[in-house]
Amino acid sequence: MIIAIDGPTASGKGTIARALAAHFGLPHLDTGLLYRAVGRQVFLAGGNPDDPEQALAATAFPDSLLEDPELRSEETGGLASRVSIHPAVRAALLERQQAFANQPGGAVLDGRDIATVIAPHAPAKLFVTASVAARALRRWAEMQGQGRTVSREAIEADLAARDERDANRAQAPLRQAPDAALLDTSAMGREVAIATAIALVEKQL
Ligand code: C5P
Repeated sequence: MIIAIDGPTASGKGTIARALAAHFGLPHLDTGLLYRAVGRQVFLAGGNPDDPEQALAATAFPDSLLEDPELRSEETGGLASRVSIHPAVRAALLERQQAFANQPGGAVLDGRDIATVIAPHAPAKLFVTASVAARALRRWAEMQGQGRTVSREAIEADLAARDERDANRAQAPLRQAPDAALLDTSAMGREVAIATAIALVEKQL
């Protein structure tokens, strides 16, 4: 049983992926974290994320980097979005993601190209989205909670730039797979979004 979840930043896909993994008793991989680790590694090496060779070299990041709290920052998210454009970077991370997806017993993976590239054979696929305004508001509230003050306008502009880059890149752009169920969480609270996701997955299985 593989559950493939794709969607833009701050759509709620991570929360939904973790809840589905707990509900169905499956291991979960947040694939964005792999791209974030590559972005962070380029930064730590003083490299240029837009350079394909430097970005590729950074895919050999140490596993310990996955525990770095800085991976969750907006800055690292931006770096991840830049390194993820390079086909060689995507190819280098492919096997690790497919091995996770195809482990006996199944798995939940979330990202941008899980249903389209990593696991098109997954029986359950969700495309989780929300309006830019709703996503910016959530990200803003999250940052407020961490005691960080950033304007909602700045967050909205950053999200829109990332959406644009993720949706328009040549390789593995963010797309809803034709057989993925659409879940728009703009007007949903956390519990309703999770319950709806579980119902959509159960319908597909
Ligand atoms: O989901 P998250 O915000 O952690 O992802 C960070 C960036 O990594 C995204 O903006 C996207 O460019 C890239 N990414 C990707 N493919 C994935 C997961 C993330 O290109 N499967």
